[in-house]
Amino acid sequence: MSKVTVIGAGNVGATCANVLAMRKIASEVVLIDIKEGLSEGKMLDIYQTSTLVGFDTKVTGVTNDYAATANSDVVVITSGVPRKPGMTREELIGVNAGIVKAVMGEALKHSPGAIYLIVANPMDTMTYLALKSSGLPAARVFGMGGQLDSSRFRCYLAKALGASMSDVDGMVIGGHGDTTMIPLVEKASYRGVPVCKFASAEVLGNVVADTMVGGATLTGLLGTSAWYAPGAAAASVVEAIVFDQKKVIPSCVSLDGQYGQKDICIGVPTVIGRGGAERVIEMELSADEKAKFEASAAAVRKTNDVLKEIGAL
Ligand code: APR
Repeated sequence: MSKVTVIGAGNVGATCANVLAMRKIASEVVLIDIKEGLSEGKMLDIYQTSTLVGFDTKVTGVTNDYAATANSDVVVITSGVPRKPGMTREELIGVNAGIVKAVMGEALKHSPGAIYLIVANPMDTMTYLALKSSGLPAARVFGMGGQLDSSRFRCYLAKALGASMSDVDGMVIGGHGDTTMIPLVEKASYRGVPVCKFASAEVLGNVVADTMVGGATLTGLLGTSAWYAPGAAAASVVEAIVFDQKKVIPSCVSLDGQYGQKDICIGVPTVIGRGGAERVIEMELSADEKAKFEASAAAVRKTNDVLKEIGAL
């Protein structure tokens, strides 16, 4: 029995709500948006699939009515503008900081005990903002980016290897940006065997490059940012929380000395369960991975600094 609120009934939020219902991850899903009627319409549409796909999840759509979100176990924040072709995620900060801070404040009043999952971009900085402005413990505010980037990485790897995606394992850590994410190709494996045994450095280099611009490629094709994989990735993190799965998911979490970093939210492998981001897994990084992680953290900090410049923190 879990109640999940999704804030933002746009492409990503509505997809997330749909997957949460269809896969019976939550017993109740509330979708909320600022646009009059949008959430109500999307949830009515999703409700009308219930006999077709088979779920009993209670689905509710509301316009700005936070009372309806009360006592949620998990709140997913997708509200904010998506990028257009040619834009970076970082360019969204001005608009999205105001939105994320406002909706976080409203949701918190009604669900003080919830776990907050941040999806709006630039996600690492929005997570930092949500954590700092809410004053919640670090385990209860974290961001979804690594789950999506890792899924893209595994897809490109599986394709390059001609393998089943479920046989290919790989993680993406670092920031959730085109230039800040770090697909850990040296650690990726095909049924436990390093992928470098099956593909050339050139092929793997292309896999890494394709992963890093995975979102931008879709933005170019679609004219706006992607939603099926982002929505499903967010729902899968919610699943790990509500079913206390203790899954290791690369997540954007607040670091307190791990990986040599403090006072930053950035993607690292994290045990996700009922307590939220329960534990950071510290892996040995190679010299190259370490250098990339440090550069990624420096870039994320630079974007975080903008929060102060625009008065959001
Ligand atoms: N309160 C509630 N909803 C809001 C608010 C607000 N203050 N401000 C904006 N929204 C809603 C919009 O009305 C819109 O329905 O957020 C929704 C965003 O939906 P889309 O424009 O379709 O954007 P989407 O593709 O879903 O991306 C949302 O997730 O992946 C990230 O980069 C992406 O930051 C973007 C976010």
